[in-house]
Amino acid sequence: MELREDTFMPKQTDHLHNRNMYNEKREEELVLANKELAFQNIEKEKRAAELVLANKELVFQNEEKEKRAAELILANKDIARRLQNIQALQQIDKAILGSLDLNLTLHVVLEQTKAELHVDAAAILLLNSQTQILEFAAGIGFRSQAIERSHLRLGEGLDGRAALEGRVTSITNLQNIAQFARAPLFTEEGFFSYFSAPLIVKGQVWGALEVFHRSVFTPKQDWSDFLEVLAGQTAIAVDNAIHIVRLQRSNRELLAAYDSTIEGWSHALDLRDNETEGHTLRVAEITMKLAGMTGVSETELVNIRRGALLHDIGKMGVPDLILLKPDKLTDEEWVTMRKHPIFAFELLSPIAYLRPSLDIPYCHHEKWDGSGYPRGLKGEQIPLVARLFAVVDVWDALRSDRPYRHAWTKEKVIEHIKSLSGTHFDPAAIELFFKMMNDKKNAFLFGSGS
Ligand code: C2E
Ligand code: SIN
Ligand code: SIN
Ligand code: FE
Ligand code: FE
Repeated sequence: MELREDTFMPKQTDHLHNRNMYNEKREEELVLANKELAFQNIEKEKRAAELVLANKELVFQNEEKEKRAAELILANKDIARRLQNIQALQQIDKAILGSLDLNLTLHVVLEQTKAELHVDAAAILLLNSQTQILEFAAGIGFRSQAIERSHLRLGEGLDGRAALEGRVTSITNLQNIAQFARAPLFTEEGFFSYFSAPLIVKGQVWGALEVFHRSVFTPKQDWSDFLEVLAGQTAIAVDNAIHIVRLQRSNRELLAAYDSTIEGWSHALDLRDNETEGHTLRVAEITMKLAGMTGVSETELVNIRRGALLHDIGKMGVPDLILLKPDKLTDEEWVTMRKHPIFAFELLSPIAYLRPSLDIPYCHHEKWDGSGYPRGLKGEQIPLVARLFAVVDVWDALRSDRPYRHAWTKEKVIEHIKSLSGTHFDPAAIELFFKMMNDKKNAFLFGSGS
């Protein structure tokens, strides 16, 4: 520190004076230093307070972030659950569309219901529309057979009433279980909660989807909503299946009626043609046997049978004067006679279910070498069934009496047919025909006689 020179004070007091001066100076300095320190302290406290604030802000931001993260996790879980629900519904849709077997579909519904709703057991009851009784159709997760004895009159007990409610009905406490028509089921299975959703499509009640818990369970809204959606899908499956069964039945009845009609027509044709008894049925049988040996499908065999029964329906367009003429036909008469396959085509092709049967009526007079009628088809241009049928038809025609000749003997017909191999007939068709004829199992198709 720098000392000032005081010229007014005597020399001996200088020292004291100096000391005083020095002290004062030190004091001033100390005060200053103190002030400085105080100031620094305040600054520090201010900084500290700021830090505390900043810290608080950070903590707050952190909490916010954690909250957001938790929300995201929840939202994610919700999305995942919804996705699973949607996948469950897709599985059910696939089952409905992919299977005509209602039982199979109901089991898919129950598996998805059990997994998605986390229930211990689930059952589907279907309403017998005649008796108005809800009967067990399918179940999953049951320990005993009690559920299968379900036989609930509609409206009987809380459970029998559920199907009539039009929405989810629940029994979630033990006191109410007494009102359950199948109370023993709860005891036997150890159930505590029960929910039932009606199966309804377009106002029609088909039954109920029931779910059971072996613990007390309080559902959330979206749980009940999903139960209702599952019941809706089940109802659609049942509705579909019933319609398909009805359609199949009426289709079968219709086809049976059609086939009776065809047999009636073919019998009428035989009568008009002075055919031997059962000619048409016989050629139909033999042709099916031959076609079966070539490995055609069941469906195709049905078409072949119809075609064979109707093979000469075109003769309805040939006048009696020609058809029943006890003599050879003139060239002009032949022109008319040769139209009978075309008449058959015109008659049958507008009938959708007979269109797959046209090959025989339309092509049974085509010849392997192309000299036949009506189109002069050659070789494999001629449908295989028509090539097979041609052999059978000529066989049976020659074995029968006609107004213009008597029936031929077996040997004569065999020899005649063999002589036409490769001209009139497909050699392979002839081979197959005689192979079948020589099989003892088929003797009944060729009768007795010579
Ligand atoms: P369809 O009586 O059902 O005869 C079917 C086919 O069997 C005939 O076709 C022919 O390939 C063979 N067939 C039948 N009868 C004889 C026969 O006496 N000799 C020989 N070689 N083959 C026979 P196709 O010839 O095209 O005749 C078609 C239809 O025309 C016959 O059906 C029959 O309804 C009629 N038809 C054929 N020939 C005469 C005839 O001489 N007089 C009359 N009235 N009708 C005839
Ligand atoms: C038919 O279709 O009825 C005859 C077969 C053919 O066109 O080859
Ligand atoms: C018919 O095919 O319906 C009559 C001629 C025959 O005997 O084949
Ligand atoms: Fe014919
Ligand atoms: Fe015939």
